[in-house]
Amino acid sequence: MLVKDNLNKEIFQKLKEKMEQGLLPQWVVTDPEIYQLERKKIFARTWQFLGHESEIKEPGSYVTRWMASDPILLVKTKSGEIKAFLNSCTHRGAQLCTADFGNKKTFTCPYHGWSYNLDGDLIGVVSGKKVYGENMVKDDWGLRPIPKVEIYQGLIFGNLDYEAVPLEEYLGDMKWYLDILLGRSDGGMEVRGVPQRWVAQANWKMTHENFSSDPYHVQTTHRSTVELGISPSDPNYAGYGHQVVLENGHGLSIITSATGSSPYKYQTMPESMWPMFERNLSPEQAEVLSKTTVFIGGVFPNFAFDSPVHGTEGEMHNYLNLRVWRPLGPDKVEIWCWFLIDKAAPEEYKEEAYKSYVGSFGPSGTLEQDDTEVWARITQVNNALMMEDKELNYNNVNNYLLGESVFEPDETFPGPGVAYPSCYTDNLAKNIHKRWFELISKGIVD
Ligand code: FES
Ligand SMILES: [Fe+2]
Repeated sequence: MLVKDNLNKEIFQKLKEKMEQGLLPQWVVTDPEIYQLERKKIFARTWQFLGHESEIKEPGSYVTRWMASDPILLVKTKSGEIKAFLNSCTHRGAQLCTADFGNKKTFTCPYHGWSYNLDGDLIGVVSGKKVYGENMVKDDWGLRPIPKVEIYQGLIFGNLDYEAVPLEEYLGDMKWYLDILLGRSDGGMEVRGVPQRWVAQANWKMTHENFSSDPYHVQTTHRSTVELGISPSDPNYAGYGHQVVLENGHGLSIITSATGSSPYKYQTMPESMWPMFERNLSPEQAEVLSKTTVFIGGVFPNFAFDSPVHGTEGEMHNYLNLRVWRPLGPDKVEIWCWFLIDKAAPEEYKEEAYKSYVGSFGPSGTLEQDDTEVWARITQVNNALMMEDKELNYNNVNNYLLGESVFEPDETFPGPGVAYPSCYTDNLAKNIHKRWFELISKGIVD
């Protein structure tokens, strides 16, 4: 009865057949062999979010980050360039910088004291001449740069693959939506505070899928917010709007309201900012922004964003929450969570928006705790033996039994991508799975 022995071509072919029927075999969620493939075939090859430009404003500013298991030192050099290095000393591999952030002229290794400048050059070796003689070529022992670092709308991404396509090509039509979120204001967005982070007993695919593709869970998982009177009681409230499927596994939900237009014009941002939004965006982008309550989506594999409206009636605020789901294993994920707000917003609005964020997302937020609980329980039950031949249901889109499509794309939607006229569909989840399968099965199944 148990189907999974070890990974081979046949298993991948079966997996493909199931996925084509809108089913996901449950064992793939937390399987250790799948996880090893994901590390090598996904995390070693895709663009991953490192931070926002506003986090390292001055020369010498740095933050330490991770790309899955790779430690990263992200710095602004003297000349103002942004560089990323492997945060590991080239001598014996100690983690070079152990602080989360700061400002420095040089980095000195805590083990034997080798030091490096902001460009990653090795500039100091303790007792160098005595220990290594005159001939040591320091230039050979600089920090190892991350193969690719590129920036879009202030978002800094890294890629471990020298052959990777440029970031803008990878993002494709997602740029149109990122422009709305990050480019609507003069001066762009800025990070406030430091990213919060915490560990959940969950698989990274489930957390990413939840955020990037699943408004359907909102009315049940976050039922308490309805009871508190801060979410509408209509069970379809998170389903109104469009789900936009983009290339490379990216996509987003654009949640409006039953009327097709949000009750919160321009997401509650002060009216004085509206002409600026309209100046910075195309008419189509401004129209989408003005009618939307929540933008929530993701860039494959593990970067997500949420631009909601939260608070209590009369005190509603908008902000931008960025997420990274950093895998720590098949059943453990480190969640990184940033708060951003328009640099041009009035200070008072920024402060109130930050309070709304802390009360909703972030480790102590009501919404966050609801989700974390569910993610951990999925992971826990998933390790059961009987799950090895059970499948999960992703076919509310195309009912494979009836061969019918529940939702046809809405051709009148003004943005790029394939837009379905509901946020309660599995189109986005299937799009993520499709990309995931393409990458992990490369070279195994054609
Ligand atoms: S490991 Fe860094 S100086 Fe030795
Ligand atoms: Fe949620």
